[in-house]
Amino acid sequence: MNICVFASGGGSNFRAILESGRNGFLYSRIRLLITNNSECGAVEIAKEYGVDVFHISRKVYPGLNDAEYGRVFVDKLNEYKIDLIVLAGYMKKIEPAVIKSFTNRIINIHPALLPSFGGKGMYGINVHKAVIDARVRVSGLTIHMVNEEYDSGRILFQKSVEVNETDNEYTLQKKILALEHKYYSYVIKKIEEGEIGI
Ligand code: GRF
Repeated sequence: MNICVFASGGGSNFRAILESGRNGFLYSRIRLLITNNSECGAVEIAKEYGVDVFHISRKVYPGLNDAEYGRVFVDKLNEYKIDLIVLAGYMKKIEPAVIKSFTNRIINIHPALLPSFGGKGMYGINVHKAVIDARVRVSGLTIHMVNEEYDSGRILFQKSVEVNETDNEYTLQKKILALEHKYYSYVIKKIEEGEIGI
């Protein structure tokens, strides 16, 4: 498969996926990074690994209507013959045109056990803080399909972790992020092998 990763932040999941490609765990080629933030860590990582970067945001393409703006994404994805879109800390909503053209071919990772602790505003440290505040004893990660609504697509994989009395949002984030790095590539491999149907 040809993969395009969408990221806006530090890009540690992006790096983990690239490493899985480099060391032969994945058969797929990570061909493109799409980002709305040209100064994010993920862009630096793309340079380090020789992956092409496409920077796109409303600011970069002012004056386009929604359909035209969506078309820019779709054209770029088609140019790179992308089979699978992997969201890894992408902070913008996916354009409807992209969801339409890539139905069941977009996956996301969320740092909690959906359907709990998901939806609008539930990103980054907010998620872990909500988990700690709710005093639940279990959190984890969810890898799911992406549709028009935040965090509501079909769940493909989940992994739970215990929330200890001594955990705060930062220790929990660290624990879960380490698991994300391992299991995102694992799920992509299962998709490659047809064991997880998308
Ligand atoms: C991860 O926690 C992921 O679950 C969420 O965004 C974060 C991205 O982190 N969707 P990084 O940029 O991969 O380090």
